[in-house]
Amino acid sequence: MAQSNGKVNSFWETKKLKVNEIAVSPTFQNKGVGSRALKKLGAWAKKKKYSSILLSANQKSAAFGFYKRNGFHKTAFVTMEKKL
Ligand SMILES: CC(C)(COP(=O)(O)OP(=O)(O)OC[C@H]1O[C@@H](n2cnc3c(N)ncnc32)[C@H](O)[C@@H]1OP(=O)(O)O)[C@@H](O)C(=O)NCCC(=O)NCCS
Repeated sequence: MAQSNGKVNSFWETKKLKVNEIAVSPTFQNKGVGSRALKKLGAWAKKKKYSSILLSANQKSAAFGFYKRNGFHKTAFVTMEKKL
């Protein structure tokens, strides 16, 4: 539960935008395209009343630093997997 302005909101009541994958063609990487796309997505999501954007990233990948530099932070949630 989270409390703001005296109103109690549960985690599930807030609207979060889930992003599965972001990719920029190798030819256009490191030119600011990904950062600009995230900024535009953030502005669109805010207009649509989403409270945040959720995505998964490998901590050991270059994308992890990219997301951090674009305002994302680690949450307490982790991906869990069961091998079959
Ligand atoms: C991760 C990914 C989406 C980033 O997109 P991108 O367009 O390369 O990202 P940007 O160019 O905005 O930023 C990348 C780097 O370029 C640099 N950069 C930003 N603007 C720049 C510009 N105008 N000129 C030169 N370099 C620039 C930044 O310093 C940044 O470095 P950082 O990673 O140390 O922060 C892209 O590399 C990609 O598609 N990777 C493969 C797929 C992948 O890993 N997807 C994520 C899975 S979760």
